[in-house]
Amino acid sequence: MCGIIGVTGGAQVTELLLAGLARLEYRGYDSAGVVLEDGERLWRARAATGTRSLEDLAKLVEDAPARPEAGVGHTRWATHGRPTDANAHPHLDCTGRVAVVHNGIVENCRELAAALADGGHTLVSDTDTEVIAHLVEDELGAGAELAGAVRAVVRRLRGSFAVGIVRAEEPGTIVAARRVSPLVVALGDGPEREGLLASDIPAILGRTRTFWTLADDQVVTLRPGSVEVTDVDGVSVAPRSLHVDWDLEAAEKGGFDDFMSKEMHEQPQAVRDTLLGRTLADGTLAVDELRLDPAVLDQVDKVFIVACGSSFHAGLVAKHALERWLHIPVEIDIASEFRYRDPVLDQRTLVVGVSQSGETVDTLQAMRHASSEGAPVLVISNVVDSSMAREADGVLYTRAGPEIGVAATKTHLAQIAALELLGLALAQQRGSLSPDQLADLLAQLGRTPELIDDVLGRDEAVAAVARRFTDVRDFFFLGRHVGYPVAMEGALKLKEIAYVRAEAYPAGELKHGPIALVEPGTVVVGVATRNRLWEKMLSNVAEVRSRGATVVLVADDGDGETAAEADHVLWVPPAHELLSPLVDVVPLQQFAYHLARAHHLDVDRPRNLAKTVTVE
Ligand code: M6R
Repeated sequence: MCGIIGVTGGAQVTELLLAGLARLEYRGYDSAGVVLEDGERLWRARAATGTRSLEDLAKLVEDAPARPEAGVGHTRWATHGRPTDANAHPHLDCTGRVAVVHNGIVENCRELAAALADGGHTLVSDTDTEVIAHLVEDELGAGAELAGAVRAVVRRLRGSFAVGIVRAEEPGTIVAARRVSPLVVALGDGPEREGLLASDIPAILGRTRTFWTLADDQVVTLRPGSVEVTDVDGVSVAPRSLHVDWDLEAAEKGGFDDFMSKEMHEQPQAVRDTLLGRTLADGTLAVDELRLDPAVLDQVDKVFIVACGSSFHAGLVAKHALERWLHIPVEIDIASEFRYRDPVLDQRTLVVGVSQSGETVDTLQAMRHASSEGAPVLVISNVVDSSMAREADGVLYTRAGPEIGVAATKTHLAQIAALELLGLALAQQRGSLSPDQLADLLAQLGRTPELIDDVLGRDEAVAAVARRFTDVRDFFFLGRHVGYPVAMEGALKLKEIAYVRAEAYPAGELKHGPIALVEPGTVVVGVATRNRLWEKMLSNVAEVRSRGATVVLVADDGDGETAAEADHVLWVPPAHELLSPLVDVVPLQQFAYHLARAHHLDVDRPRNLAKTVTVE
């Protein structure tokens, strides 16, 4: 999740840029850079030294022009291209007279880059962003001024973006635009009235408490003391203003009480970004960063998924989808166990490691073991250039942005989306789904962010149910089919952030032992949306109810038959059964969250746990 900043006017352009970048640090970054414009030229410095990048950038900036008029800066969280100096922002056009910082993903970057190369441009990075600088260059060459050029370029971009652009020929001016990705603009309260822009309020909170936000495809021209906003056709519009009285810590959390809550609310975007650019307009998939020889993928006759914790649960969901779509066996193993037995692997077994951090040692070692046995290894990771991404034969990145809360939420959903994309891409390549089936599934996957958003809007209803159980110390979670991994994830969330015992079972397994524990007062949480085992699930629920259990069910909107078996219902909009975990797990995250809050626990930093587990 990159962060952008821009400052024009006043005597402290460089200082404000660096201070603002430091305040965007909490979003996570692997490189950083600035461009300063001093009335004559652009001066650029970039550092790609991981979490030292800002420190290193500050040293480089000691050689910067003493009195810049304007500048833009960036903290990068790599999505396209490794975290290197060449890929760090700002990116320049061929003349070095236009500089761009960008947060988001330019979905059609490949076709734009090809057209630019045909037109004689030289692109020097692996990023999607660089195309923007060259497209602006072309528009300026045709006689436009910067704002007009940016409007023309916005029309050509697909995907999401917040951009800040400076040009040597227009001193003291920054032009910015956005679609989907966040962007705020402001004027400093002091006498210099410097123009400010940033991805996030904390970056510029020290200068003012009044901000403007832009609607999609609006373009803003910032100068000291002046903010002019137009739509993409150049018609002036009034931006929405916003006054905040948060302190800095609250601002970093985007006004939410904690990172977990903020990150749960980012889930629709995390899934959207993970799908972005990977589905073509004709309904086919182009997941070209998989980086695995199609011939290798063609001969795969078994998939083995290895992962830990929430990533393991995402893998369990994928097992159902991949077996259905590919008609080949999909095994899944807890990564810490995998290499200590004798898993049967060969060059026809595709091993998929799933890890948000890409550093979990158990998963890394499992992947190494698979490689040593000659199996092709692919990783699904949220961190570009993580150890797993470097070592695997292929990689598919989730694009959830950094997750700060220890409890996996948005990365978990992004993993499910990425694994399902992988399944569909393999099905496309192997012809195991018809083009119509593929297009239909992709369309339904593309609609899941709306459904997730809808569930997030029902947070208060879930909180009201959760608050009824604040005295309960033991929960059963039940599910069947894809509902089982959802139940496991719900139970894990409750354990890790609310410190409450929660055991998940496939509901059909109850009668083989665990039902002996059910007595009046036992609380059972079930995932009872209408997958293919829904009827059987309801029978299992009836068994626990008849023994006096209090039952909470996740159910499809309007499903009275399911509601009749429950004491409390967590309603969700219905989704395709193989995609439903993306939706059904959200009320269980909320349930755990509200129980933990009711116990006054720190949901972001649960005891005994680390975000990245680099020990065995
Ligand atoms: O970084 P990874 O995805 O490999 O981490 C695996 C688990 O440690 C992780 O999913 C853990 O279970 C979550 N923090 C639970 O919310």
